[in-house]
Amino acid sequence: MKIAIIGSGYVGLVTGVCLGHIGHEVMCVDNDKKKIQSLQAGEVPIYEPGLEPKLKELLAKKRITFTTSIKAATQSSTVIFISVGTPSKKNGEADLTHVENVAREIAVNMDSYKLIVEKSTVPTATGRRIERTIRLNLPKKFRHPDPKKNGLDFDVASNPEFLREGCAMEDFMNPDRIVMGVESPRAEELLRDVYKPLKAPIVVTNINSAELIKHASNSFLATKISFINAVARICDLVGADVLKVSEGMGYDKRIGRAFLNAGIGYGGSCFPKDVDAFIRLSEKSGYSFNLLKEVRQVNEEQRQYFLRLIEDKLWIIKNKMIGVWGLAFKPDTDDMRNAPSLEIIRTLQHEGAKVKAYDPKAMDKSKMELPGVVFSKDAYAAASGADCLLVLTEWKEFLKLDFKKVKTSMRQPILFDGRNLFDKKLMEKTGFEYFGIGRGKL
Ligand code: UDX
Repeated sequence: MKIAIIGSGYVGLVTGVCLGHIGHEVMCVDNDKKKIQSLQAGEVPIYEPGLEPKLKELLAKKRITFTTSIKAATQSSTVIFISVGTPSKKNGEADLTHVENVAREIAVNMDSYKLIVEKSTVPTATGRRIERTIRLNLPKKFRHPDPKKNGLDFDVASNPEFLREGCAMEDFMNPDRIVMGVESPRAEELLRDVYKPLKAPIVVTNINSAELIKHASNSFLATKISFINAVARICDLVGADVLKVSEGMGYDKRIGRAFLNAGIGYGGSCFPKDVDAFIRLSEKSGYSFNLLKEVRQVNEEQRQYFLRLIEDKLWIIKNKMIGVWGLAFKPDTDDMRNAPSLEIIRTLQHEGAKVKAYDPKAMDKSKMELPGVVFSKDAYAAASGADCLLVLTEWKEFLKLDFKKVKTSMRQPILFDGRNLFDKKLMEKTGFEYFGIGRGKL
C-alpha cells in the first residue's frame, strides 16, 4: 500500500519505518529541510534502538522516501497519516495549529480518494474538525455546491499510537491493541489492510471514542504512577518499603505490577502534556476532572520532595559538588523533554551547588538546557570527588559499576536514589548512606 506520513518526528518516523518494514511503500514528510536531507541519507536525529539500521535497510530497498512536499505525498498515496506535533498552550490545551495547517494542505492537493488518519494525540472531536477543514478546502473543481457535502470522496480516521520511547519499534510490531476510529466501511477496510501483517486485538470504534482511548490510557498510567508515589510518601512516614508494597499489590491481576515504580515522577513528551490536555478537554466539555488534577499535583511534588530530602540529609547545599547519574526522562532514550532532572539540577545550582553529570545517551541534548553543569565521560568521573550522588534515571548500566570504587572516590558517600534503582541493604553494606523514595523512615 502507498502510505504518506506527514510529520517525521518521533511518532511519524517510527510509524513510517515500521510500516515500510511490514511491506508498505512509505513517503515521509517534514517541513524541516535539513531533517529531510539527513533522513534521506539514513541519519536519524533521535536515539531509538533499532530505528537507524532499519531505516538504512528500507532506503536501500527504496521502500521509504523523504520529502518536504505535502503535495507529492498526498498525490502518491491512498492512506495519509498525520503525526505532527501538538504542543501545549499556556492553559494546558493542545495547540492544533500544525494539524489544521496539514489538513488544509492535504485538501488543496487532493486529486482522488484518500483516507486521512490522525496519529497525533488530539482532543476529542478533532477528527470532525479535520474532516470539515478538508471538505472546505478541496480544490474548487471538487467542491460540492452544498458546503456540508463532499465533492470528492475521502474519509478521516483516528488511529492513536501507544509507542513508548526506547522500545517504540518493538511496541509497533507487537502492540497490545490497535485502535481504529472509523466512520465508514471503506476506512475500516483500508486500516485493517495497513495493519494486516500485525497480530493484535483490534478495537474498532467511532472517531471520538478512539481519541478518548488515547487520553484515558495515558492519564490512567500517569494515575498509577502518582498513586504509588503518594503511597511512597506514606511509606517514608510510617517505615514501610514501597518496593514490597508494589510487589504485593502487583500480583493482583486486576492491578498489575507495571507502572508502580515510585520515584521522582513522570516526565517526557507525552504524560505531562496529555494529562494537562485531558484536564482542559474535560473542563471544556463540562466536567471538572479533579482526580487528574491531583495526579498532576502529586507528580510535581515528587521533585520538591526529593529536593527537600537532599537539603535535609546533605545539610548545606552551597558550594557542594553534586554528582548526577542519569539525565534523560527515562532510560534507553536521549529525550530530555520534561525530564525531572532539569528542575532538580537547576534548583540545586540556584542554591549554589556545583553539578557534575553523566548520562549514557542524553548529554548532548542536555548541554543547552543545563548551562554550568560539567558533563563527565563516565559514571565514575561524575561521582569522583562528589559530596553526594543523585540517581535521576534508572539506566541498567549503573547496576554493573564497581561500587567500592565509586564510594572511595567520593568525598562523602551519600547516595540519593530518585528511581529506587539500587538494593538499599547492599548499598548500605558497601558503606553508602542510602536514601531512596518510599524505602522506610527517614
Ligand atoms: C508514554 C506511553 O507509555 C505511550 O503509550 C504513549 O504513546 C506515549 O507516552 P513514554 O513517554 O515513552 O510513553 O514513556 P513511558 O515509558 O510510558 O514512561 C513515562 C514516564 O513515567 C517516564 O518519565 C518514567 O520514568 C515514568 N514512570 C513510568 C514512573 O515514574 N514510574 C513507573 O512505574 C513507570
